[in-house]
Amino acid sequence: MEKFTRRDFLKTAGIAGGGLVLSTGSLLHAQEGQLRGGKKLNVALLGVGAEGKVLLESMLKLPYINFVAVCDIWRHNLKFAIAKIREFRKQKPKPYENYEDLIKEQAKNLDAVIIATPDFWHAPHTVAFLKAGVNVYCEKMMSDTVEGAKSMVRAMRESGKLLQIGHQRKSNPRYIYAHDELLRKHDICGTIMACNGQWNRAVTKDIEANKRIWIPEETLKKYGYKDMHQFLNWRWFKGLGGGAISDLGAHQIDIFAWMLGARPTAVMASGNKGYYKNHDWADNVMCIFEYGKSFQGKPVQAFYQVLTTTSSGGGYYESFMGDKGTVKMSENESITTLFRENAVKEEEWKKLVAQGVIGASSGVAEVKKADARESGPLASYGFPEKVPGYVDRKPIHSYHLENFFNAVMGKGKLTCDAAHAFESEAAVFKAREAAETGQKQYFKDSDFVVD
Ligand SMILES: NC(=O)c1ccc[n+]([C@@H]2O[C@H](COP(=O)([O-])OP(=O)(O)OC[C@H]3O[C@@H](n4cnc5c(N)ncnc54)[C@H](O)[C@@H]3O)[C@@H](O)[C@H]2O)c1
Repeated sequence: MEKFTRRDFLKTAGIAGGGLVLSTGSLLHAQEGQLRGGKKLNVALLGVGAEGKVLLESMLKLPYINFVAVCDIWRHNLKFAIAKIREFRKQKPKPYENYEDLIKEQAKNLDAVIIATPDFWHAPHTVAFLKAGVNVYCEKMMSDTVEGAKSMVRAMRESGKLLQIGHQRKSNPRYIYAHDELLRKHDICGTIMACNGQWNRAVTKDIEANKRIWIPEETLKKYGYKDMHQFLNWRWFKGLGGGAISDLGAHQIDIFAWMLGARPTAVMASGNKGYYKNHDWADNVMCIFEYGKSFQGKPVQAFYQVLTTTSSGGGYYESFMGDKGTVKMSENESITTLFRENAVKEEEWKKLVAQGVIGASSGVAEVKKADARESGPLASYGFPEKVPGYVDRKPIHSYHLENFFNAVMGKGKLTCDAAHAFESEAAVFKAREAAETGQKQYFKDSDFVVD
């Protein structure tokens, strides 16, 4: 289990030093008054596993949240979340095993629910809360099926409530800066004809839990799990999750479409299986997406790979590659790099550095050429020191949650509502199909919209 102590909380909240601990409560109250005129948002959490805990950690720092209820079928996680909320916020959310009981008893009183259950539960959970009049933040993938995802978009429209999907990069100021300023306003890349993205992960053993805390078999069956192993490792099983391409790829395939301002027209993919003996989905997937016309009016190809059998090759990032330069983006700041093509004069990028558009060059890596026809190594640069809205060491999910809660409070629009998320997830579903069948898949306009 992840350890998240009061000390960690105070550290990441930027409240350092033991002497300040006692004043935390009054600090929160002071901000609360300013933020919401004294009124808090009543919020429930549904699913507090690995991601639910990450979201909880961010929410504990938002003074305007009143945690009304927590729902999880695993008492082990339920107790953990309730204890954290009691410890850090002195609130006593009511525990639930079943979401229907939670809706029956609390929906009228709720402003929002945060859903981080396994993918195959997203549609039933989300639709039920929207129908009950509650705004929803639901993790990606929207669903393990296209129909499930569509039902969520329809429920959002019919209920008139908000439905944010957890593609958190959409609210990340560094990503917004790359989209608005680097690629569009300053045309750093020049003409983009290719993209490249990957998420390479080291071998991970299947998750296990001590028998002492196992969920009773009848409870597992009631909620659609064959046994404890399947419950803990749901993402690798058909009918529950979508494997690596939807678990990790969904984030980055979404970024391709957003940065390029385009929908894909076709996808080829290949899945590779056999390393993990008991997984249904491919261990590694490689795809090529074709985009007919980017925001620059040009055709673009994007290569995407997700590996779960090795972490070499530089971790996770998305690169936008043009004739003047490349923007290599990652949620991990240390991976983000801008490369200047040698055909572009150093003076031009020096000007951008002086204007604060990009960060200073870290130079040209020394590389011995093996062949005279090889391109010379490129000068690399970084992001400017100050990206508007970006706060050093702020947890990466906080921006997206805050965007959601602000929209609930009537301040601003969602950066990734369900209709928007469906557009990018439609591409993920097709890539999965291409990998499964080995057939190139073509997109129709109707694939991206929900009627
Ligand atoms: N945005 C991101 O960066 C990101 C990162 C990781 C995971 N996720 C997404 O978050 C979701 C959860 O993933 P995870 O890794 O936390 O999984 P997990 O298995 O660690 O957690 C799932 C939690 O849901 C509970 N649960 C299962 N079925 C339930 C039900 N019917 N009712 C109530 N509770 C139920 C489980 O007991 C567990 O506590 C997935 O959709 C995943 O794709 C998003």
